[in-house]
Amino acid sequence: TPPDFFFTCAAYVLGSLSFAVIVSKLMGIEDPRSYGSKNPGATNVLRSGNKAAAVLTLLGDALKGLAAVLIAKMFGPQFGVDAAGVAWVALAVVAGHMWPIFFNFKGGKGVATAMGVMFGLNLLLGFAVVLTWLLVAFIWRYSSLAAMLSLGLSPLFGAFLLPRGTPQLGITLVIGLLVFYRHRDNLIKLLTRQEKKIGEKARAPA
Ligand code: G3P
Repeated sequence: TPPDFFFTCAAYVLGSLSFAVIVSKLMGIEDPRSYGSKNPGATNVLRSGNKAAAVLTLLGDALKGLAAVLIAKMFGPQFGVDAAGVAWVALAVVAGHMWPIFFNFKGGKGVATAMGVMFGLNLLLGFAVVLTWLLVAFIWRYSSLAAMLSLGLSPLFGAFLLPRGTPQLGITLVIGLLVFYRHRDNLIKLLTRQEKKIGEKARAPA
């Protein structure tokens, strides 16, 4: 329907705001697309050595995912946007982050944004994903592995936590698959033991 389409497009544009690029520019540090994994995301911004910038990137990218879903849930129904519309919004904000309209469609891997989305869909689902991320990151210290496992498991968590038969469960699966797809370089690096651990600097300290 037209309102579904409007909310979905708005979510896509919101998702296109890459906080890694925006925060780095505002704080006067190097563009994350030029060092480390070249990924515009919190993990790579941390490789600049600026922890505050990494935290702000994480919060910005997660909050846009959360905001998109909560806005669709709160204001959508007045325009006839139902659970399926909210599911499209959830997918669109993550897709915007991955293929942003503002940056030649070259975006990030969608981890923080997808986590924000999970919190928006269901608070416990968000906590389940974040706790899994933290557990995996604590044990193995690879951000990418933590992302793939935690968001890959989101449909399983969703099967228990989301209402029965909701289209939003299918969207957690689609988002999980997209996150995997965006981490295919990381997967190869993990398998060949070239992946950098969390917080390893992009360049050797001078
Ligand atoms: O959030 C993205 C993370 O999972 C991997 O990022 O920079 O190590 O490729 P990166």
